[in-house]
Amino acid sequence: MNNEKKLIFSGIQPTGNSFTLGNYIGAVRNWGTLQNDYNCVYSIVDLHSITVKQVPAELRKNSLSAYALLIACGIDPQRSVVFFQSHNKCHAELSWVLSCYTQFGELSRMTQFKDKSAKHTDNVNAGLFTYPVLMAADILAYNADLVPIGVDQKQHLELARNIAQRFNHTHGEFFTVPEAYIPKVGQKIKSLTDPTKKMSKSDENQNGSVYVLDDKDTVIRKFKKAVTDSGSEVKYADGKDGINNLITIYSVITGKSIQETEREFDGKGYGEFKLAVGETVADHLAPIREKHSSLMEDKQYLKECYTEGAARAMSITQKTLTKVYRKVGFVDAR
Ligand code: TRP
Repeated sequence: MNNEKKLIFSGIQPTGNSFTLGNYIGAVRNWGTLQNDYNCVYSIVDLHSITVKQVPAELRKNSLSAYALLIACGIDPQRSVVFFQSHNKCHAELSWVLSCYTQFGELSRMTQFKDKSAKHTDNVNAGLFTYPVLMAADILAYNADLVPIGVDQKQHLELARNIAQRFNHTHGEFFTVPEAYIPKVGQKIKSLTDPTKKMSKSDENQNGSVYVLDDKDTVIRKFKKAVTDSGSEVKYADGKDGINNLITIYSVITGKSIQETEREFDGKGYGEFKLAVGETVADHLAPIREKHSSLMEDKQYLKECYTEGAARAMSITQKTLTKVYRKVGFVDAR
């Protein structure tokens, strides 16, 4: 790691068989680019994923697939630290300490906890409640300067900042207080079937989300079915959530501006536009899908990458954890 560069930490959950186009456009695509200017640490946050029920065999398969997909999307496991959260024990250990610097009331106010506990009423477990503390540990263990996140994670990052400040206030300046890094464009890709809602892996309607690993026909079919309003012009306008979403996706993927996209489809109808977006997205994803499938055939290579990633992650966080243990008053282990 280059000491002159700032450190970026981000995590993604391994749930579902692939990331959505929303995860890709809003997060993972940018993670690759950030490697040029920052020291980057990226984690498949499997510990977080078990806060909702998982089928073990599927979780294992999805986790490995997610890891390969990060690489397929341009994250270089040599340049960046890329690992499974569960392979670095420091996350869970630091999380325990930080939980003693977090108030019950603060965690009760987290909107994601409120939403998820309303949705999974049969499994409102303590992990779901302390989820944001583990996320704070992920970030603070590396003294990350910047954390790329979607807007839905802003409240969690704010909490991480508060925990860092509280710890620093008690024990003297120690943790870096992290800043959110929220990409300007395409941060909020919406569901294709309900464009007022975010595109999400947990969407019940499978046509709402396009997955990075969907094949060409599936991608095109989903875009053809995308819900749009009663208008017909390809123009970005307030209240036209459906068409705005498609214009955003097309612009981000092609690198064209909204205006250029509008001009390109001037006089053409929604049908033609939807097909064009579908084809463009499918062509963009094809090489990622190919890279992913060849990586999945080389389990040995993947293993080398994540073993090395975990070792590098651990070497950074063990230093932090040792200092934290000393600061809170534990007897030195060595
Ligand atoms: N909670 C994040 C999400 O669901 C994932 C995550 C876990 C994360 N730990 C993190 C993101 C640390 C950024 C930094 O999107």
